[in-house]
Amino acid sequence: MLLEGKTAIVTGAGRGLGRSHALALAAQGARVVVNDPGVDVHGEGSSNVAQLVVDEIRASGGEAVANVDSCAGFAEAEAMVQQAVDTFGGLDILVNNAGILRDRTIFNMTEQEWDAVIHVHLKGHFAPTRHACAYWRAESKAGRGRGGRIISTSSQTGLFGNPGQANYAAAKGGIASFTQVVAMEMARFGVTANAIAPAARTRMSEDLIGPAPEGVDPMAAENVSPIVVWLASDDAQWVTGQVFHMMGGRCDRLEGWRIVGTRTRTGRHWEPAEMADAVRALYGTFPGGIGGALGAEEAVAATGIGQARLNQKSST
Ligand SMILES: NC(=O)c1ccc[n+]([C@@H]2O[C@H](COP(=O)([O-])OP(=O)(O)OC[C@H]3O[C@@H](n4cnc5c(N)ncnc54)[C@H](O)[C@@H]3O)[C@@H](O)[C@H]2O)c1
Repeated sequence: MLLEGKTAIVTGAGRGLGRSHALALAAQGARVVVNDPGVDVHGEGSSNVAQLVVDEIRASGGEAVANVDSCAGFAEAEAMVQQAVDTFGGLDILVNNAGILRDRTIFNMTEQEWDAVIHVHLKGHFAPTRHACAYWRAESKAGRGRGGRIISTSSQTGLFGNPGQANYAAAKGGIASFTQVVAMEMARFGVTANAIAPAARTRMSEDLIGPAPEGVDPMAAENVSPIVVWLASDDAQWVTGQVFHMMGGRCDRLEGWRIVGTRTRTGRHWEPAEMADAVRALYGTFPGGIGGALGAEEAVAATGIGQARLNQKSST
């Protein structure tokens, strides 16, 4: 049992990956606040999926409680952290997972489609993280330092790009950057912050991934959750500010923006016209002279899903 005595919050835990994470955390001994208002894939409506997951955890002998507020509400997120403390005596793990889609090409995207996706993903990560971190800082200052674990949810789209998803990519890329800064700020309190870029067969992706095969399904959400459980454990204290890609049985460590070539002008300022040669030279520093652009394409091709979505969205 990796998580005996720990308490976790999982946002968007009523379905798909979040449900799988909640069950996996509970199976390793964690008590779980199952957050989910049960909206549709576009973020509308409501249903009692959170309570169904709570019932599943309890039926297996675990402890869980439902929370049906939006994780993107600032006051609601504060109340959710307080609910964990009041119900289970503290908080150790926050899994930011909730998400929706409003796909559209950039020239057709409405303000509402942009705002809804940014709100659920980015503010839905900020609000619970902010209140959990305030709690962990207060515990530390009171001499009850208990560390803390944050596992957030980025996406291939946010890291490699995908046509038709500018809103989702902005949010998911932002979550990777957000994770790095939270990791830096919370290190002195023993709190780690990492992110996963998952791919799994859920209602959000089933049109791309297709039906499950007979036997072991490598694309099952249950094949992503093990890294969430491990990152939530004491054993993972040394891992922070990282992003891991989990898909179909493979676990990749990802690295983000980095300097891949440099040209420097000294003694005077750059002239606009000389930037042409400077930029060409930057690409020329790579074997084949192609640089980062091919890296991104190769990454998408290697994972397959981005290309599938690209084909699907080409007529959107
Ligand atoms: N499925 C994939 O292949 C894939 C790929 C990359 C990233 N992701 C990300 O993984 C996460 C989970 O996706 P999924 O595939 O399980 O989707 P899903 O639609 O099956 O589950 C998402 C859950 O989030 C809940 N939710 C939505 N808005 C919420 C809010 N404001 N507050 C709380 N809960 C809310 C929904 O009710 C739903 O139960 C998302 O962040 C998604 O963007 C999924």
